[in-house]
Amino acid sequence: MARLGVGLRPRVLLAMVLTGAVTLGVAALALLGPLETRLRHDASSNVITAVLGAIPAFDDAVTPKRRIDPGAVGVIARALARRTGARVAVVDGAGNRVTDTDPEVIDPFDDARLALASGHTVHDYRFGRLRVATTVRIAGHRYALVLRKRLNEVASANRVVRDAFLVAAGVGLATALLLGVGLSSGLVRRVRKLRDSAQQMEELGLEAPAPVDHSRDEVGALARTFAAMQSRLRREEASRRSFVATASHELRTPLASLDGMLELLRDDISSQPVDIDDARKRVVQAQEQSLRLGHLAADLLDLSRLDAAIELRSEPVELAELGRAVVAEFDHRSVREDRPVQFDAPPEPVWATGDPGSIARIVRILLDNALRASPAGERVTIEVGAGEDGRATVAVSDRGPGVPERERELIFERFQRGETAIGQGFGLGLAIGRELATRMGGSLELAPSGPGARFVLHLAADEITSPIATP
Ligand SMILES: Nc1ncnc2c1ncn2[C@@H]1O[C@H](COP(=O)(O)OP(=O)(O)OP(=O)(O)O)[C@@H](O)[C@H]1O
Ligand SMILES: [Mg+2]
Repeated sequence: MARLGVGLRPRVLLAMVLTGAVTLGVAALALLGPLETRLRHDASSNVITAVLGAIPAFDDAVTPKRRIDPGAVGVIARALARRTGARVAVVDGAGNRVTDTDPEVIDPFDDARLALASGHTVHDYRFGRLRVATTVRIAGHRYALVLRKRLNEVASANRVVRDAFLVAAGVGLATALLLGVGLSSGLVRRVRKLRDSAQQMEELGLEAPAPVDHSRDEVGALARTFAAMQSRLRREEASRRSFVATASHELRTPLASLDGMLELLRDDISSQPVDIDDARKRVVQAQEQSLRLGHLAADLLDLSRLDAAIELRSEPVELAELGRAVVAEFDHRSVREDRPVQFDAPPEPVWATGDPGSIARIVRILLDNALRASPAGERVTIEVGAGEDGRATVAVSDRGPGVPERERELIFERFQRGETAIGQGFGLGLAIGRELATRMGGSLELAPSGPGARFVLHLAADEITSPIATP
């Protein structure tokens, strides 16, 4: 057995885990970045709104002499600091702090200079810290109102979501792994069972037990197809064996009688005086047996060709002309046996599609049977024409005993003769005829009504040449 590469189970597992990991990774990328940006933006907007809202309050931070009142500025700054949770400072143009809620911490206040120079509110976010600077006018001078805030809530919200993602990823991957193990184990077990069945069939032949899998999935369907194929092969093998057994038996019988006749012939010609009359009789009988054997050999050859599925020709065939030619072959016999053959065909040609040799063979089989079944003096009729369904037909009828109801289908099987079969035969004619008809896309049937028998060959009408095929 060829060595297996990477098994089904690791591949299924890898696929499931990879799918889970990629899905969660993409979801994390798609969510975490935008979420942080959004949270930061919201927090910044809140702080900036509070800063802008506090600006008018600084108008009142003046002494009665209209000078800046650092105490009052400090009160406003602390109130703003409480409201925003930020460090708040007021800085003059030279970078000196008028007030600062966190005086211990050194800060270059570079953004304050920027805000004073531009007259706009400036803000940025660096290393988790929001910086806002805007200008306020106190006692006719411009100062910078500066805020510093660590946006911890953004980082912590982000951390919560990231942790949740990690937990989800862990649970998701573990679930994928568990499901993958369960699914792939079941699948691998069932596929192995199928492989074992195939191996057993290789070792034991068709008698090995068929695989059983009732699941309604693809593996179950494969097992059922496998079992169906095995049982078909068994049937074919059984019919092949019975065919070979019957054929050898059928061959042995005429051979044995031929042997006996030749022995009697030898006795006749060795006796003194030579029994010439009996010898003549034996020669005639031996000839009959040899003819019989010749027929059987031809039939067996036909069947083996059919079994080997040799391609039949498919071409336009004019049935009336072909029928006439076959009837002519039977002229001598028909006169000798006093069973006239009547040939009926429409004035116009009847074109069918098929193999001319096979169609002629079928007509010969039907005429031979009809002449055998027909009482002396009665007419056998062969009709060529168009069937009701637009197909081309050849029908052979006789006024013989007909076919009993229980034998109607049986007579189309190999080596099956009717109980009241007339003359010597092997029961192969109709089997060959039906198989040939089927292989040409047509059919060979026994018409339902009597008296006598009427066999009908249906063939596809030739679409180009036949007038019956035109609607
Ligand atoms: N025209 C018919 N009338 C009555 N019975 C028929 C007619 N044609 C066929 N049968 C029955 O069908 C059986 C099978 O016919 P089939 O042609 O297959 O074999 P056969 O004629 O017995 O032998 P073979 O054709 O091999 O020499 C015949 O034995 C006969 O019982
Ligand atoms: Mg026959």
